[in-house]
Amino acid sequence: ANEKVKQLIDLHEQSVKLYHHILTNTKMGQPALDYLHNRGVTDEIIDTYQLGYAPGQRLLKPFFDQRKIDYQLLRKSGLFSEDQEGNLRDRFIDRVMYPIRTSSGQTIAFSGRLLTTNSDLPKYLNSPETEIFNKRKILFNLDLARSNIRSDQPAILFEGFMDVITAFQAGIKSGIASMGTSLTEQQIYDIKRITHHVIICYDGDTPGQKAIKRAIDAFGESSKLDIKIVTVPDGMDPDEFIRKKGGPAFQELIKHALAPIEFELNYLKKQYNLDSEVDQSHYITEAIKLISGLDSSISRDLYLNRLADEFSVDKQVLIQQLAPLTKRVP
Ligand code: CTP
Ligand code: MN
Ligand code: MN
Ligand code: MN
Ligand code: MN
Repeated sequence: ANEKVKQLIDLHEQSVKLYHHILTNTKMGQPALDYLHNRGVTDEIIDTYQLGYAPGQRLLKPFFDQRKIDYQLLRKSGLFSEDQEGNLRDRFIDRVMYPIRTSSGQTIAFSGRLLTTNSDLPKYLNSPETEIFNKRKILFNLDLARSNIRSDQPAILFEGFMDVITAFQAGIKSGIASMGTSLTEQQIYDIKRITHHVIICYDGDTPGQKAIKRAIDAFGESSKLDIKIVTVPDGMDPDEFIRKKGGPAFQELIKHALAPIEFELNYLKKQYNLDSEVDQSHYITEAIKLISGLDSSISRDLYLNRLADEFSVDKQVLIQQLAPLTKRVP
């Protein structure tokens, strides 16, 4: 079984080289190279991440056939799709290829992006689950980010791997991302083993902001954990923000990252029309629920004060509402 894992990884390593060669050294790859350059991706980054291109025609199948690679191994690699007769064809056609590596740097899967968005096909196509790839267990870029996380910077959790790559190019090298799924227990476990200081920086659009709330809940309560939230302005994602405003501006966002309670209060506030007193009252009730979840009584008092000030309500009334919510089972 171990031998098989090695062989599957080897197929991926060979595919990385082939896709990368097509992208960087062939005429076939030129449109994909133009696409990356137009996005601002440098040749250095293309090399660091070994980005590639799967052309609009079969590539891996003839390549591996020529080398007499076992059919069953090819079948199980996830690099091919299979028709009813069992014929294999390249899964990735006409896509920019992003190798997905384990924390030890071995490539076990790919994600392929279309060069345009006017298509019925999905923008990103990932390798299917295989014996070596489980997307719920992978954190993109952990192999490169780990040493940077350990020394000085917190882990920055992004939504997409283009965000990770653009941040890396701008010198922010502690970024990681899950593979298009919400954060799993396994990924959280892996992050916590490396650091307790995490910055969540998902897309500034509505789905991104909703996902932040879920991520905060998934990390759970722990006094050791230091989680901060960055909201990227104007609905941009971090990749767009960094390209438009630059790395230093992004560092500035990180410096002003919010505590989860602050993010959640802001987020909650946006759900209400605070010109209406009915809405104000609903907001205050829900805000008190959030505040009641804080571990520290000092923090609870602090945010209660703010709430009282903000809406000019009697703090004693807020305390009365909070009290039954904070009673803990001994
Ligand atoms: N994703 C996916 N399939 C899609 C769309 C998204 O698997 N059809 C995953 C990818 O892992 C992607 C992440 O979800 O990185 C975030 O999605 P999105 O914000 O839409 O993609 P971006 O990273 O912003 O991609 P790009 O800038 O290339 O459009
Ligand atoms: Mn190269
Ligand atoms: Mn998004
Ligand atoms: Mn995005
Ligand atoms: Mn994007």
